[in-house]
Amino acid sequence: MADFTVTPWEVSGAVDYSKLIKQFGTSRIDAQLKECISRAVKGHHHMLNRDFFFSHRDLDLILKDHETGKGFFLYTGRGPSKGMHIGHLVPLLFTKWLQKKFGVNLYIEITDDEKFLFRREYDWKEVQKNADDNIAEIAALGFDPERTFIFKDSEYVKNVYPLLLKTARKITGSTVKSVFGFDDSTNIGMNFYPAYQVVPSFFEKKRCLIPCAIDQDPYWRIQRDIAEGLGYYKTAAVHCKFFPPLQGISGKMSSSAGSETAILLTDDEKTVKNKINKYAFSGGRASVEEHRKLGGDPAIDVPYQWLSILFEPDDDALKKIHEDYRSGKLLSGELKLMLIERLNLFLKEHRECKAKAGKDIQKMMYSGKLAKEMWERTYE
Ligand code: TYM
Repeated sequence: MADFTVTPWEVSGAVDYSKLIKQFGTSRIDAQLKECISRAVKGHHHMLNRDFFFSHRDLDLILKDHETGKGFFLYTGRGPSKGMHIGHLVPLLFTKWLQKKFGVNLYIEITDDEKFLFRREYDWKEVQKNADDNIAEIAALGFDPERTFIFKDSEYVKNVYPLLLKTARKITGSTVKSVFGFDDSTNIGMNFYPAYQVVPSFFEKKRCLIPCAIDQDPYWRIQRDIAEGLGYYKTAAVHCKFFPPLQGISGKMSSSAGSETAILLTDDEKTVKNKINKYAFSGGRASVEEHRKLGGDPAIDVPYQWLSILFEPDDDALKKIHEDYRSGKLLSGELKLMLIERLNLFLKEHRECKAKAGKDIQKMMYSGKLAKEMWERTYE
């Protein structure tokens, strides 16, 4: 029996990522592949170096397609909910880096339909409000407005309905039952929805690369079973681990788990400070004396882990924090303060970008080069 669960809707227990690679049938991103990526982009990304992006499907083929000039495109997405949290930034910021390094088109699916169907507590108006807010958060991250298309499923459906139907015709009820655990009480909209999450991987007749956390992989398994039969490539994917909640390094930061478990992108400075000081699980010792003598444990320390994943990209600086914490020179309160300062600086800049994102949102949804092309195009 597995002592952890990973599905697109639930992550619980201490996830064993090596087991997950086997269970899902993906491949580990090994040293050789990392080397190939570095060579292709002439650079590094700390999330790859530190194995936060740890698993993939066909990433080697993406690099080949890039090398031979065939090219590829990027696709990622978001199921809109009330507040985006900092964990959601992980795949998005990595996607931004890939877009910049490879200069490729990017499609971002906003699944208002999924949220409406799967979360009965939301009415349609609320879903739309959340979707518009989430789009502003995403646009604020600074994707290339001419090469990025952000679309809400309910709006873009008129352009893709025939392709959606073709896709849906290839997916049986027993497939979604076994892949997602649906049963007879699952509403028929939910049974249909997976077809729409597959469709953007067909937006170009090139290989698609999907950056996401590993929870979304079940969709790509379905895509890979049907893509070639429809005349498209099997999609590639690059998977990250889960950004941990404040309370400890197992499980995932989640919008539905309660606001005291996550830092939301809308949290103000005081809220950030209070949440970290009150809730962030510490690998420090019970007293200052003991900590100075025995040192802390960065491996289970949430502030250290968050710095490592997002807020301290410099390897030397992170190494120093690790050493000082291990040796007891750096106290838990000091480490928390370091995180609070960086987080608040990041969120302040993010808020400013969000306030100024109007023009870019317009471009990425409707008037930029790629968006314009997409609205003129229909898919069959
Ligand atoms: P959603 O809105 O649940 O999550 C959006 C993206 O964030 C990732 N994610 C996390 N990554 C790291 N740490 C976490 N704690 C964490 N929580 C969520 C998710 O893996 C996802 O990449 N059905 C999708 C929307 C979607 C999509 C896609 C996502 C449509 N097409 C293509 C990825 C790629 C959803 O509800 O994601």
